[in-house]
Amino acid sequence: MEASHIPVLLNEALEFLKPESGGIYVDGTLGMGGHTGEILKRSHPGGRVIGIDRDTEALKVAKERLQGFEDRVQIIHGNFADVGKIAEGLGIKEVDGILLDLGVSSMQIDTATRGFSFLRDAPLDMRMDTTAGITAADIVNNYSVEELQALLWGLGEEGYSRRIAKEIAKARDTARIETTRELAQLVERSIPRKDWPKQIHPATKTFQALRIAVNDELGSLEQGLNDGINLLREGGRFCVISFHSLEERIVKNRFRNWENPCICPPSLPVCRCWKVKVARVLTKKGIKATEDEIKANPRARSARLRVAEKV
Ligand SMILES: C[S@@+](CC[C@H](N)C(=O)[O-])C[C@H]1O[C@@H](n2cnc3c(N)ncnc32)[C@H](O)[C@@H]1O
Repeated sequence: MEASHIPVLLNEALEFLKPESGGIYVDGTLGMGGHTGEILKRSHPGGRVIGIDRDTEALKVAKERLQGFEDRVQIIHGNFADVGKIAEGLGIKEVDGILLDLGVSSMQIDTATRGFSFLRDAPLDMRMDTTAGITAADIVNNYSVEELQALLWGLGEEGYSRRIAKEIAKARDTARIETTRELAQLVERSIPRKDWPKQIHPATKTFQALRIAVNDELGSLEQGLNDGINLLREGGRFCVISFHSLEERIVKNRFRNWENPCICPPSLPVCRCWKVKVARVLTKKGIKATEDEIKANPRARSARLRVAEKV
């Protein structure tokens, strides 16, 4: 299968990132290199990109796609949560801009063997980094009913979390649940037909919750934001594209906190916590894709770009 992924909000993100010749940029979610390729073009000559991805398959594709830019891009297998250490290892003290385009790529979803999609039967894996960590099958077969319920509710906002958790426990009493199809069918059985969502497959929320847990996506995002803002130079911009409400909330609240970190009670006439502003938010509401982009790439529908500038 030809590996493909259309970069989302490409122009909007690049307009904010403002790549310049001689600048150093971090693309923490290199993927197929769509955003990085554009950063490299716009920062010609002399702009550099540190491109990080957890997925070794993505790195192979990106390397091929970015042929011709080898002298200006460093491709790193790692988690953007460790961006501070990664930059330190490269001898870089500060960078001019950071981009995160969160979640999974179309290539990951479309590769049946990765187990991200309920539409393709495959082992229940869902790891972005297949060299480490636990799989979705490990969670489904080992978590208690209470833990499964909490996970499905907390990370998937699945209203039928309890029923699905119980159905999982019942099924695995007979045999381990190993495949995406088994899990999808089990979720279908747990939700009354009349309550199946109209726009999405009934297993969508369950798969989302498992994927987020397997990859500790929210923990990585929290740490990546912390590390990233320390690495950014004054005036440098932090651009984050998120795809669901949980990551959206983390980004929005963190940016807000960078802009207004004061924790004094409102009754105090002057600030006494002395916490200083670290960034200003450039996108109060978040930027959405245009209807034309959504038509060409339905994945863009849920995308939100938020940008903060370090002060
Ligand atoms: C939406 S895709 C990025 C697509 C990319 N912007 C492009 O234009 O080709 C997200 C990518 O980020 C990677 N990823 C997600 N979370 C990560 C993390 N915490 N650290 C490193 N890579 C991550 C995934 O493996 C995936 O390849």
